[in-house]
Parts: sequence; C-alpha cells; structure tokens
Amino acid sequence: MTPPTKPPFQLTREEMRALGDRALEIVIAHFETNRDAPVAHQITRADAERLLRTELPEQGTPVNELFDILTRDVFPNGFRTDHPRFYSFVPSPNNFVSVVGDLLTSGTNLFAGHWMAASGAAQIEMIVIDWLKELVGFPANAAGIMVSGGSMANLSAVAAAREVRLGGANDKAIVYCSDQTHSSVAKGLRIIGFRPEQRRTVATDDSLRLSMPALEAAIKEDRAGGRLPFCVVANAGTTNTGAVDPLGPLADLCARESLWLHVDGAYGAAAVITDRGRTALTGIERADSVTLDPHKWLFQPFELGCLLVRDPDVLRRAFRVDDADHPDYLADVTRHIQDDVNFYEHGVQLTRSFKALKLWLSLRAYGLAEFRRAIDVGFDMADLAEQTLRADGRWTIVTPSQMGVVTFRWNDSAKSDAEIDAITSRTVDLMREDGYALVMSTILRGRPALRLCPIHPATLAHEIRETITRLGRHSVTAATQ
Ligand SMILES: Cc1ncc(COP(=O)(O)O)c(C=O)c1O
Repeated sequence: MTPPTKPPFQLTREEMRALGDRALEIVIAHFETNRDAPVAHQITRADAERLLRTELPEQGTPVNELFDILTRDVFPNGFRTDHPRFYSFVPSPNNFVSVVGDLLTSGTNLFAGHWMAASGAAQIEMIVIDWLKELVGFPANAAGIMVSGGSMANLSAVAAAREVRLGGANDKAIVYCSDQTHSSVAKGLRIIGFRPEQRRTVATDDSLRLSMPALEAAIKEDRAGGRLPFCVVANAGTTNTGAVDPLGPLADLCARESLWLHVDGAYGAAAVITDRGRTALTGIERADSVTLDPHKWLFQPFELGCLLVRDPDVLRRAFRVDDADHPDYLADVTRHIQDDVNFYEHGVQLTRSFKALKLWLSLRAYGLAEFRRAIDVGFDMADLAEQTLRADGRWTIVTPSQMGVVTFRWNDSAKSDAEIDAITSRTVDLMREDGYALVMSTILRGRPALRLCPIHPATLAHEIRETITRLGRHSVTAATQ
C-alpha cells in the first residue's frame, strides 16, 4: 500500500485563517476607502490581456500572490457600483452583513434545491419570501422564489403566466409592455419562444407611463384580429426614469380582460417599504406576479432577485417536470416530502445556492426600519438633485425626481436639439475623465438626457451639489468645443 498522502485541497486551520484574514482585510478596505477611491476605472483589452493572461496552470501559485494580482489589476479596473457617487444605471450599494452572509453561503455550500438537502435553508427562504410578499401586500398564501436577478425573475414570470393561462406555447398569444419596459422582458419572451410580433410595445404618456388608452386600443385591435391577448407587463419604477405605470387601472383592466398582470419592480418594488414608495406603487398588491430585486434597492450583493406569484400553485405548474421526466435519482427526495418546499420544482435551477441567507441575515440584523431609512435617502438625494438643477437655471428637467431617478438636459436657447445632444454626450465623457462621480445618459423620446440615480444610502448632499456643479462646468466646456 502506498503511504497516506494529504488529501487534495486540504489547508490547515492556520492556513485557512491566514487566507480568510487577508481576504477579509481586502473587503474591509474596500468598504472603508470606497468614498475616496475612483468611482470607475477601465483598461483596454490589450492591457487586460497583458496583465492577466496566463497558461492554464498545471501547478499552483501561492494564494497571496493571486490576491496581489486581484487587488492590483482586477478589482480597481471597473465600476464601483457601491460607491456613494456612482449615480448610473442601477447602483448596487452593498452592506457588510450581507457580504458576510455570502461568505457563509459559499462556505457551507448548502444545496438549496430541495427540502431533504437543506430543510433549514428552505425554511429561511420561505420566511424571506413571506416577508417580501407581506411588503408588496400579497396574500399570505402567495408564493415565490429567489433567483439570480430581475432578468431571471421576469423570464420565470412570463413562463409561469404562459403555462397557467395558455397551457404552453400559443402562436396567437400577445404580451403587452410599454416602450420603457426593461429589455429583459423581450429577452425572456424570446427565450421561451415568443416571436417578436407577439410582443406589443405600447406607447407611453408624457410622464413615460404606459398609456391606458393606447393599451386598450391595442387589446381591442388584437382581439378583432383573432389574436389572444394574455399578459400585460407593467413597470414599477423604470430603469430610465423611475416611472411607475398606472398599476391600479392596469389591475382593473387585466381583471376585466382576464389578462395576467406581471409587475416588473426589479428596481422600484423595494421602495414599497417607505411612505413615498408605497404611495407611488399603489396597486402593486393586485398583480398576478411581481419581480423585486434585493440586489438593487435592498442593498444586497449580486446575485439576488425574487419572483413573487399570487397563486401558490403557479410556479409548480410551470416548472415541475412530469412524473415520467422526474429524475430517477431524486425519487427518494419526493417520496416522503411534499413538493411545495422543493424549490427545484418552482423554478429553472436544480442546484441552487442558499441565496436567501444574506437578505435574511441583514433584515434580521438591521431591522426593516434601517432599510426604510436607507431607501428614503435615495428619494431625498434625487429630490435634492432636481432642486439643485432647477435652482441652477441652466438645465431642463426631462423627468422630475421619481423613485430615486432624475433626468435632465443642458438648456441653451441658442443651440439646436442636435447640438444639445452632442453637449450631453460630451458632458458624459468629460465627467468620466473628471472621475469625481459616474453620471451617464439615457435616451428619452429619442434624445439623450443625463440621468442621476443617487440611491446609495451614504451619499451626502454636498456630493450631489458638487456633481451638478461639475456637470455644469463640463457642459459649458462641451458647448464651446
Ligand atoms: C426594471 C428592471 N427590470 C429588470 C432588470 C434586469 O435585472 P438583472 O440585471 O438583475 O437581471 C433591471 C436591471 O437593471 C431593471 O432595472
């Protein structure tokens, strides 16, 4: 017999602690120095290749050397989406308790696919889903599942709606959404087999909210044409402007027309915990399904999305495979245990991590009041940005502060729209070169507009004012170039 060797991958307690300490130090330094670090930094593909390309290694390298590579060449070369002056896209302000939660998730590596493998984790996930249901005002017997993010939640929602309402693919079925709906809905529909002409893009009103008359007309026209209207996807806080579609009237219409109402609140639905959010989102509780991403406005690390469904059986009907297709090697899993707690039968994934842990941990640790306070900062900062822009007098507000987003354009009556377009794009570039804050543009009604989404709970009022001062300075420069 060959003498026993050390099993692969084994580290001593001291080695594990040393590695863990160093990794934790990197993370703590990230949190402590975030405000003073550059908001965004990019390298060229050629530089990235030069810095990082290696052969597939046959032999190992000390982890400390790899940490050095990561801290020098990888972590700094990107956006800090959790920086207090990152105002673009949907920022991802993080919280340290949830970061530790992620460590526990991967360190313990529970298989959260079914009850037998992780009954405690499944219970925590069900509790977290119950909390989120309660927040949006869903009935106690509603259901849900934690997923990777909004794209997967939206895809799962339309897949579930199709299964329940149409019994599978149907060439005549039509889904309605607005011209402001997130592209993940179009992507999800395409993946599950909808053709482009089965998605009707409905016009928006002056506030970029889905137009009820336009929707009603489209439904009427489709019915007259022999098509089958079956689902409306509404926005609860668009990514572009924070617009919330008329959720109450949409719920009335969907009830009248027997349509499934899915609300994409990936970004905005979490704001329901605040007074301002609750008012803006009235009617969300009447949806058939809701997407809510804790990795957006609930301050969680990526990847944590959630799909909530009113009907408790919907997810199982959509995602549970027929008995004939059920894997033989999972027979013992379902033999004694009711399948309502086996999450692999409620969504796409079989193997899934204990994603709910970080949200549970941070909600228990901080309490909902702390999250409410954090979201309220975002509302306040967007309001402050709008006030500052108006007081400055050189800007046109394109859409006012709503759900933590404000959009605006340089205003110079001597310039054409096309010239203001060019100033807007140039201002984005100059602001990126400046490095103080990350501000990007979006396209609204065919024209670029600057967009601020200042939802980091540590953003300070003077940082908003300074950002707007610099935007003004850069726009003046851009106007003269
Ligand atoms: C409104 C909305 N829906 C869906 C998504 C897609 O979510 P994810 O990026 O988590 O897949 C986003 C992303 O920003 C969003 O803002």
